[in-house]
Amino acid sequence: MTKVAPSVLSADFRNIQSEIKLVEGCGVDLLHLDVMDGHFVPNITFGPMMVEAINRCSDLPLDVHLMIENPDLFVEQFVESGSDFLTVSLEACRHLHRTIRLVKSFKIKAGCALNPATPFGAVQPVLSELDLLLLMTVNPGFGGQRFISSVLPKIEEARAFIDRNNLKTEIEVDGGIGPETAKSVKEAGADILVSGAAIFKSDDYCRTVKAIREA
Ligand code: DX5
Ligand code: ZN
Repeated sequence: MTKVAPSVLSADFRNIQSEIKLVEGCGVDLLHLDVMDGHFVPNITFGPMMVEAINRCSDLPLDVHLMIENPDLFVEQFVESGSDFLTVSLEACRHLHRTIRLVKSFKIKAGCALNPATPFGAVQPVLSELDLLLLMTVNPGFGGQRFISSVLPKIEEARAFIDRNNLKTEIEVDGGIGPETAKSVKEAGADILVSGAAIFKSDDYCRTVKAIREA
């Protein structure tokens, strides 16, 4: 079954603990945390302190999405903060293979994200090292943006490659996913759907999670 990972970026930060409890109650699979540095993306969110605080109020696996330059400098801090999955942005890594090895040296799951304009071929040589391939369907930086449907063939391409080579890498898709867009993403071959605004701006989080999962 397709997994759902709510992105807390669109949650009410005054009540982050209760927001997290609400989505936990919907049976979601992971908690997606978007770390932005104001350099790799034109927005700033939070860092390891917040990840650590969220770790203390949730039993869900933490899926930490780094949209930061020089991720190598911060890997250890995010590991210590309780990250279960740590995903770096391919476009921010000068030596991607080395960065992935660094993440895995801490015995957590390593992921790599691709911007919409980055072709699948850019990650293919290191795919067997990855636990997670995160395909962005918006340009990273903000929640609530419009889904870019022209990325769908890249999801299909990744699915076909992973299946053909019997890899265990999971495909996660992030950006503009809600009940209306989830179906095409699932059909293209995604294992995990990230969803921020569609869930946290809805009246009934659990109904939206269910609609995404069952789309
Ligand atoms: C965008 C982030 C996403 C974002 C998704 O840069 O990586 O995780 O929060 O939010 P929605 O689902 O609102 O596009
Ligand atoms: Zn994200």
